[in-house]
Formats: sequence, structure tokens, C-alpha cells
Amino acid sequence: MSKANRRSFLKNTSIAALGAAVLPVVAKAKPEKKDDFIGCIATTQDLYGEGPFYTENPPLIENSQLSADDEEGVKLTISGRVMTLNCAEFIEGAVIDIWHADDSGAYDNEGFNLRGKVISNSEGFFLFETIKPGKYLNGNLYRPSHIHFKITPPNSPTLTTQLYFQGDVDIPADAAASVTSGVYNAQGRIITLFDDGSEGFEGVWDIVLDGSGVNGMNDIHLDKGVLYKTHPNPFTNELTISYGVFKEARASLLVFDMKGQQVATLEEKLLTPEKYEATWRPEPGLPDGHYFISLKINDLQVHYLKVQKMSSYGY
Ligand SMILES: [Fe+2]
Repeated sequence: MSKANRRSFLKNTSIAALGAAVLPVVAKAKPEKKDDFIGCIATTQDLYGEGPFYTENPPLIENSQLSADDEEGVKLTISGRVMTLNCAEFIEGAVIDIWHADDSGAYDNEGFNLRGKVISNSEGFFLFETIKPGKYLNGNLYRPSHIHFKITPPNSPTLTTQLYFQGDVDIPADAAASVTSGVYNAQGRIITLFDDGSEGFEGVWDIVLDGSGVNGMNDIHLDKGVLYKTHPNPFTNELTISYGVFKEARASLLVFDMKGQQVATLEEKLLTPEKYEATWRPEPGLPDGHYFISLKINDLQVHYLKVQKMSSYGY
């Protein structure tokens, strides 16, 4: 996505009316893999705490971009949702303070390059674009690539932690990233990165911590339904969404933008337990950028997936 497109996406707040279709497919839904999607496990602190390179009062980042366009390195997009300890509610207004090393493994200890804050939106979503942090020596060992966070929900304690990436060869020997049990257990903070379709990577990290939620859910509801996949992603004109409903229920398939504003309703009706497919064809004026597809069952949000809409320009 070009800088101009990204900017126009972020400025545009119009609600689009969108075409949608839904049809049952033959296969029955299979709920047994639900643990693959969301487990309600509290996000842990990191053994190394904030480390030696934190700088107080970083700025709020603009346009979701932590790194400048000319920052050297591999592009990386991290998104997710901030949730309460029982995963029952999403937390709006959590301040997510982020800092990490540059491509060469160096921190900016004088200014605020690769340092900044984002705030979870009205649906609990957050997203930032940056570069994959480089590695630096800690004694005679390289620390794995990592991003530092201080996460503070409204009127709640701050969680200080670090995020790592699956497959990093320096994780097993790292005193913090290799912890597999107890209060510093890092396993829920080692995320898989996927090719973002445009020379970079993206990863999803849901943050579960003590705080007051604003959006009603009463339980984990993946036994009621799940989003299986979206295809293709990124997409240009048409996105196919596979989802399953496990009990007869009123199901809604909704699309939200990064501000938490609903931009489309793809489905909203009583569905029997089946696997379904829906198609999202955004109207031409809808900006490029990141969107969240959310499945609601009986008005409870049970699952979401992030997708990226890209224009066909340049293809
Ligand atoms: Fe660090």
C-alpha cells in the first residue's frame, strides 16, 4: 500500500454499503479445533522487565506507523485485540507503549525513533506498522528479535513485557524468551509471522490483562462458532470468508475498520450448524488498509480475523 493510500484510508471515516452473499457448503462444521484460535491465557510479564533502553513519554504514533517510511529493515505489521482476564470483554483506550531496536540492533536512546504509543480502539483493536527489530548482544549471546511493550488499560496496572517471533534461533538460549512456565512464561508471547503479501511480515498478538472491558461478551464462545479463513489476503475486490456455526443461532458477520467503526454487515440471520462462506465486495470508495472481520453469535463476538484490502494499482 502506498503512503498516500494509507493516509487516505486513515482519514476516511465513511460507512459503506456493501454487497454480500452467503451460502452453505456441504461440509459440517468441526468445532474440535477451537483451541487453535483463542485460548484465554493472561499475557505474562517478561523476565527482563523493561530492560535498559526505555525512554519515558514517547509520542502517540501517527497513522499507525511506528517506523518512518525510510527506516531500513523488513516491514512488520502487528495487530491484535486487548481483552480482559476472562477474555469476556474487549478493552477500549488501553495505552500500548512500544519500543524496539532498529535493523542493526541499536536503540535510539536520544530521540523517539521506533518508540511510540498506540491506543486500543472502541473494539479493543490495535495495529502498528514498523520494521522487524534487529538483534543485539546481551553478554556473549544475541537476544532474539523482540519488541518491548508497556500496556496500560484505563485505571488499571501496567503490564511490561516483550514479544518474540516463532523460529528465532536465539530464543532457546535467551534467559527471558525461553521461559516456559510461571509468571514469566514467554510461550504466549512468541508469535508466528506471516508473509503480508507485499515484501513484509505480519503477526497477530492478542493481549489479555487486568482491566475493565467495554464490549459485552460473557465467555469464550468458540464452541458456538468460528471464522476458519479469509481468502485471498491481502485482497483487492473480493474477499471470501469461511466460517462455521456450531449451534442454531442468530449469526452476524461484520466488518470493522481500524477505528472500530463498522463498515459492512455481511450476514445477519438465524443459521443452522453448518460451515458457510460469505463474500465481501467492498464498494469502490472504501479506502485500502486493514479491516477486521468479526463473527457474532447471538450478539456475542466469538472470533475475528484481520484482513488487508489493497488497491489493484501497480499490478
Ligand atoms: Fe530490548
